[in-house]
Amino acid sequence: MPEIMASTGHGDYPILIQKGALKRLGEFTAASCRGRQAFIVTDEQVGRLYLETARLSLVAAGFQVSVGVIPPGESSKSPEQLMTLYEQLHAAGMSRSDPVIALGGGVVGDLAGLAASTWLRGLPLIQVPTTLLAQVDASIGGKTAIDLPFGKNLIGTFYQPKAVLMDPALLRTLSRERMAEGMAEVIKYGMIRDLALFEQIENRAYDLEWVLEHCVRIKTAMVAADELDTGERMLLNFGHTVGHAIEKLTGYTTYTHGEAVALGMLAAVRLGEMSGHTSPGTAQRLRSLLEMYQLPVRHDLSAADIIDAIRSDKKFLAGRIYFVLLHEIGQAFLYPITFDQLADHLQEVLGND
Ligand SMILES: NC(=O)c1ccc[n+]([C@@H]2O[C@H](COP(=O)([O-])OP(=O)(O)OC[C@H]3O[C@@H](n4cnc5c(N)ncnc54)[C@H](O)[C@@H]3O)[C@@H](O)[C@H]2O)c1
Ligand SMILES: [Zn+2]
Repeated sequence: MPEIMASTGHGDYPILIQKGALKRLGEFTAASCRGRQAFIVTDEQVGRLYLETARLSLVAAGFQVSVGVIPPGESSKSPEQLMTLYEQLHAAGMSRSDPVIALGGGVVGDLAGLAASTWLRGLPLIQVPTTLLAQVDASIGGKTAIDLPFGKNLIGTFYQPKAVLMDPALLRTLSRERMAEGMAEVIKYGMIRDLALFEQIENRAYDLEWVLEHCVRIKTAMVAADELDTGERMLLNFGHTVGHAIEKLTGYTTYTHGEAVALGMLAAVRLGEMSGHTSPGTAQRLRSLLEMYQLPVRHDLSAADIIDAIRSDKKFLAGRIYFVLLHEIGQAFLYPITFDQLADHLQEVLGND
């Protein structure tokens, strides 16, 4: 049973990866904070499946439990929903040492994390991610956020949890599309840092705990090296420059985040092969793997539109940018490039099959 310690500038916290971990929520929460009043944030769908197990575990460990249930989906990452949570935290009489438990996917994690980090200037936070994407990505790294009508994740904090509990058994109820979406991020970790992980996924004979452990080790190491998102952590953006542009261009509806990232990774690898940085054959290998998990490998968007969408991203206004490329699978590096050079390269690789 892997228990990984994540180190941050604000202390270390444990990440438990174990089938059945949800039943240990009470025990883990009691070990992580002094308060005896717990507030669970979940969404309607996750709540139906797992709230009772979570609640009973906390009660058995001596907690009084209150619950805030939000509608599922990105639209709950809103100022209105945040305000509702503040009202509920107030009504529950939460004190500064009482824990907030985020039981759900990345939406619950981001919203509950922001509420926990700001209410009374910060309550202890326990993350219990229930999607593959939240387990390998959103629950680690300490980013919290809500959206505004004019942009995603515009309000947020960096706030580390006291503990993260990952129960791979909870993923059994996840839809195929949601699993595939998380798998795109798993493949990303393999591509940037871990050939063995990539090969496990390729062989399909993987153990989910093993996969989660490898992903979590990569992300915690990168975040620890670079808590404020400036250098090393940028490698985690592999496939995301083009991926975000595709999401934006299609109004966040045509492709899931993972699907857009799949297309973005393929574009980055093709760009690397074309410019002589990436060993030949890498794109073909990635493409086969993406197809195995029913992730997209082609699109009918125009290269010019994708390039325009990248250009409108404020991050790219400052002349030279860092695009993540691979030497080969498992070895990513930051490639400094001007926007115009990037646009020229992308024009060549995008849209090719
Ligand atoms: N903080 C970060 O670093 C970070 C990183 C990546 C993504 N995110 C954020 O994460 C969010 C996306 O997260 P997500 O993909 O987990 O989506 P989500 O939280 O919306 O969950 C997806 C759907 O799956 C359902 N669900 C969750 N767990 C389930 C389970 N075990 N069984 C059955 N159904 C289940 C939910 O009810 C929801 O309908 C986005 O808002 C994104 O911005 C944050
Ligand atoms: Zn991502």
